[in-house]
Amino acid sequence: MLYVTGITGHTGKWFLDRLIKEKYKGKIRCLVRDNSDTTLLDKSGLKVEKVFGSLEDKAFLEKTMEGVETVVHISTILFSDNVMDAAIRNKVKWAILVHTTGRYSKYKSASEVYIEIEERILKMRDQIGITILRPTMIYGSTGDRNMYKLVDYLNRHKFFPMFGKGDNLMQPVHAKDLGYAYYDILEKRDITFNKEYNLSGRNPIKYLDLIKCVSATLDKKNTIVKIPLWFSIFSAKIYNLINKNALISVEQVLRMQEDKVFTYDEAAKDIGYSPLSFSEGIKGEVKRYLESKQRGKK
Ligand SMILES: NC(=O)c1ccc[n+]([C@@H]2O[C@H](COP(=O)([O-])OP(=O)(O)OC[C@H]3O[C@@H](n4cnc5c(N)ncnc54)[C@H](OP(=O)(O)O)[C@@H]3O)[C@@H](O)[C@H]2O)c1
Repeated sequence: MLYVTGITGHTGKWFLDRLIKEKYKGKIRCLVRDNSDTTLLDKSGLKVEKVFGSLEDKAFLEKTMEGVETVVHISTILFSDNVMDAAIRNKVKWAILVHTTGRYSKYKSASEVYIEIEERILKMRDQIGITILRPTMIYGSTGDRNMYKLVDYLNRHKFFPMFGKGDNLMQPVHAKDLGYAYYDILEKRDITFNKEYNLSGRNPIKYLDLIKCVSATLDKKNTIVKIPLWFSIFSAKIYNLINKNALISVEQVLRMQEDKVFTYDEAAKDIGYSPLSFSEGIKGEVKRYLESKQRGKK
């Protein structure tokens, strides 16, 4: 029995898509919420059992994990402790946990909680096999909360304010590459058991080039207004002094300058992971965005 959390989410849907394509034969128990959209799951044709509840509910997790061999925990790292406690109590053999490259940030406010949770969990390896997947920023559809906002912003505005020069590198990953990687990791247990993988996009891309790429894909002529870093920090300080509900902190401005580049060599070697480049991946997202705008007009 396979137990999956987060199958109705952005990358979970791609994982499901792959399970369907591969005609997965085993039983799958999916933890979903009362209001989760389970349409795809219901028509998947797979041996799916839905259990309705929340990852916050430890007793529910323990009860529903009975008879499970492997857990794929896609939903947030913030519930990994609860999932692992229930898994260990039920003598689950293997947990595949989707965490984040956020743990590598040099800014404590971004990484501290993730490091704490992961270090605690990794100590459990004498009781259960643990494979950790660490995606970079995820994009790829109207369901992402990162790139979609940027696409929408660039479509609606002429000017784009940029804090600093935009030289920092990013390596966003497409949701489909991730969801499919979950499947490959699950299927290649002999190789992937007890390992850790960073899962990023094909190549690093400068933040400035990423903005230009989205703008060109939208066929827009946006003007990028670079705000010198010293001025951005100064303004953020003043803004935070006068507004206690400020939308952006000084540290967030600084974190934007941090390179977020992570090699996926290990995943390429073990599961043949070969992700899309950003310029390829963003095309579909922009297309769907424009289609949804057209539909909205009708
Ligand atoms: N977004 C990023 O840029 C990013 C970067 C690095 C790592 N990650 C991590 O990568 C993983 C996959 O991301 P994703 O984009 O696929 O996530 P997502 O779209 O946010 O999906 C979250 C899933 O978890 C479910 N869920 C949330 N809270 C729950 C609760 N209390 N009880 C039960 N189910 C709950 C949601 O159910 P509903 O359908 O009911 O909402 C949904 O299926 C996550 O662990 C995320 O933290 C994300």
